[in-house]
Amino acid sequence: MPSPRHIVESQQFDLDFIAELFRRSEAFSHNNRSSELQGYTLASLFYEPSTRTRFSFESAMYRLGGNVITTENAREFSSFAKGESLEDTIRVLCGYTDIIVMRHNEIGAAKRAAAISTVPILNAGDGAGQHPTQALLDLFTLHQKFGRLEGLRVAMVGDLRYGRTVRSLAYLLSKFQGVKLTFVAPPVCQMHEDIKGFLNRQGLEWRDEADLNTVLPEVDCVYMTRIQKERFLDVAEFEEARDSYRLTPENVQLMSKNAIIMHPLPRVTEIDPQVDSDPRAVYFAQARNGLWIRMAVILYALERWG
Ligand code: CP
Repeated sequence: MPSPRHIVESQQFDLDFIAELFRRSEAFSHNNRSSELQGYTLASLFYEPSTRTRFSFESAMYRLGGNVITTENAREFSSFAKGESLEDTIRVLCGYTDIIVMRHNEIGAAKRAAAISTVPILNAGDGAGQHPTQALLDLFTLHQKFGRLEGLRVAMVGDLRYGRTVRSLAYLLSKFQGVKLTFVAPPVCQMHEDIKGFLNRQGLEWRDEADLNTVLPEVDCVYMTRIQKERFLDVAEFEEARDSYRLTPENVQLMSKNAIIMHPLPRVTEIDPQVDSDPRAVYFAQARNGLWIRMAVILYALERWG
């Protein structure tokens, strides 16, 4: 039996897939009602909190005509609470559903699930590992704003150590010629060497930079991220990192008028809400794009791309 179409990590996507995904997502942004998945069921299995990813996947499935079964807190309301393994939970869910969207706190959990699942597993975030559908919607947003991906200069700012969104996006951006990445993070939140080594092997230009204001005038996109308190084992390290970088109406004036500000959200203090009215702030449109991308991703995983 052929393997299901799992979505586990950003490295798995090629340029043909990305182009077709963008074409379909763009179409869904204009017409997002369909009955194509009538009779299909999606299970959303979230072991960590979520607003955007869970609701957009569930909305996507309903807009495609399908049904959703869900646990909003699998740690408490699934049999995980009684000691059931992830593998056993997945084996059982495969009998009830056609596709599983899963968020888990452990790096590699999506891969473990995919190894035994008979239905597609969509990785909705595995700890500090990856968040591939977030990266796809981020890439779509960049393409929508600039009409290209080649040659873009992107600053990733904040929690690059535990941030799965920046890891997945770095892998995806490495596929495009001339992209330049700047990593701006507190000392305890630096981007891991595995990503830097990968970028070196791909021949992509990157650098670390401590001063955000130096970077702001140089880039096409500032990709802000939250310092993720829940990932730190050492409270002192979190205290050292928190509030390191903040976008305000004053420092965004350093940016080019054509540049954009992205954020996977949720944000806490790293973007002043007064920045929201700046036309360069696209993070809420970015979150909205997740709906179109996830409609297209669900159809891909269920082998409904013509
Ligand atoms: N960007 C993102 O993953 O948001 P949620 O945690 O709300 O799903």
